[in-house]
Amino acid sequence: MNELLIVQNITKRFGGLQANNNISFVVNKGEIIGLIGPNGAGKTTLFNCIACFYNVDEGKIFFKGSDISQSTPQRNCQLGIGRTFQIVRVFKDMTVLENIMIGAFLRNKHPRDAKRKAMDIAAIFGFAHKLQLKASSLTIAEQKRLEVARAVATDPELLLLDETMAGLNVQEVKESVELVLKLKERGITLILVEHVMEGIMSIADRVIVLDDGEKIAEGSPRDVINNDKVIQAYFGDKYHAKRREFTTSIQ
Ligand SMILES: Nc1ncnc2c1ncn2[C@@H]1O[C@H](COP(=O)(O)OP(=O)(O)OP(=O)(O)O)[C@@H](O)[C@H]1O
Ligand SMILES: [Mg+2]
Repeated sequence: MNELLIVQNITKRFGGLQANNNISFVVNKGEIIGLIGPNGAGKTTLFNCIACFYNVDEGKIFFKGSDISQSTPQRNCQLGIGRTFQIVRVFKDMTVLENIMIGAFLRNKHPRDAKRKAMDIAAIFGFAHKLQLKASSLTIAEQKRLEVARAVATDPELLLLDETMAGLNVQEVKESVELVLKLKERGITLILVEHVMEGIMSIADRVIVLDDGEKIAEGSPRDVINNDKVIQAYFGDKYHAKRREFTTSIQ
């Protein structure tokens, strides 16, 4: 079975607001999916539904064939779904090593094993020489990387990264892209929410576009950037003037 995640006609409402409206898509094992859309489009809500921080009002979500629509974040993490948060949420008073160990404890009950696992992950993420530093002393870029490391330490099969490239400089975006490709090589399937187009378009196998709670496009990065509905959603009436600029920025 190649289908890892199946999202089937899901709707999530907050009072009268439909934050996700009848959204469907499939994620295959080993893919990198880019999830994009203007502010307020419903991207983080969709992550919260997949990770079961919210339960959907309608529709179903299947992960590895199991219906997780009404599951819990804990059960989902155990099943193999990892995530990061749009606003970075590391444990600031704990060290880098301790932060990663928290993730590692999910599948390593003995502290010695969790520590060994965390040190392996720390090396991959470039933290080998910062293990004993307090997370609060790291730069924002490092804290974001630490959050990804903590999620990877839970051994996810599917990893949901919410704007881990936001606010990073050009070099940091490049490093972040390389890291994502390393995670893919380790067999992790990824869904990335990003506004940083040059970060996502070069590595996404497929891109899904949300606007106003609805899925308006899905396809290869090239198809999506040439899609009229997508350009309209991003640029509205400035469509014609901005189109060339947009296309150039991601090449
Ligand atoms: N817990 C909540 N309660 C009420 N409304 C919410 C809640 N979470 C999100 N919303 C609303 O749902 C809509 C979608 O928000 P969401 O955070 O999913 O968008 P987004 O695509 O992640 O946006 P951004 O790019 O700014 O992060 C917005 O109108 C938002 O105000
Ligand atoms: Mg968001």
